[in-house]
Amino acid sequence: MNKYVHGYSDYEANRLHDQADSLADLLHYDSVWEKGSVILEAGCGIGAQTKIIAPKNKNSKFISIDISSESLDQARNIADSNSIDNVAFQQDDIFELPFGDEYFDHIFLSFVLEHIPNPMQALSKLKRVLKTKGTGDANIGRKLYPLLNQSSFKEIKVSPRQVYVDDSNPKWVEGFTKNTFTAMIKGVSKEAVSKNIISKKEFDKGIKDLNRTAEGGGTFCYTFFKGIGTK
Ligand SMILES: C[S@@+](CC[C@H](N)C(=O)[O-])C[C@H]1O[C@@H](n2cnc3c(N)ncnc32)[C@H](O)[C@@H]1O
Repeated sequence: MNKYVHGYSDYEANRLHDQADSLADLLHYDSVWEKGSVILEAGCGIGAQTKIIAPKNKNSKFISIDISSESLDQARNIADSNSIDNVAFQQDDIFELPFGDEYFDHIFLSFVLEHIPNPMQALSKLKRVLKTKGTGDANIGRKLYPLLNQSSFKEIKVSPRQVYVDDSNPKWVEGFTKNTFTAMIKGVSKEAVSKNIISKKEFDKGIKDLNRTAEGGGTFCYTFFKGIGTK
């Protein structure tokens, strides 16, 4: 794949945990599969979502894969420290999955497709290892319905999950507005400026405006999209 835009720094690891923790209820209140399922988590990264979804599905087994061995080491540590024992982590590429056809009951992936140059090809690779009638689950915003549709998934349901933050919810001001969203934008500053996508002055103004949304009287609103489709 192309270089992963957010990189693998401690800064990005903390951001992924803040993102997963602050969005846990919003995104995962319904991430529950039937007992005994075998679930592929594709692009698990440092296990920020794994540590939320695995305990919710204690009677199912996860195989959580990522292309980065460093991220997987962190994911294993997180799983150990949360006494999670229903996940096997392994290094694999979504485009070269070493599993037989129809191996998994369900496939889960979050914040992955938007980083892949050809998300439709990724979906078709994932679909091969998904059981007929199994479900695939991804976040890639407004393109999710057409992508799942063109990949011939059935019973597609896309639901917007809106995060609205103001002073009445200081935990989200910290965990989401500052440490997830603004941190994500700050993290790509050097690359965006060096590639002349935006001037430093304009970028810094954007960060200042974003910081303002987390100060007294500021508000912040963002919409995630969760999509589910059946094979
Ligand atoms: C933004 S992170 C999201 C991690 C995790 N799902 C989360 O929500 O915290 C994207 C992850 O996708 C992984 N990734 C990107 N391309 C991949 C590929 N072809 N195969 C497996 N993993 C991939 C990256 O290594 C990275 O860990």
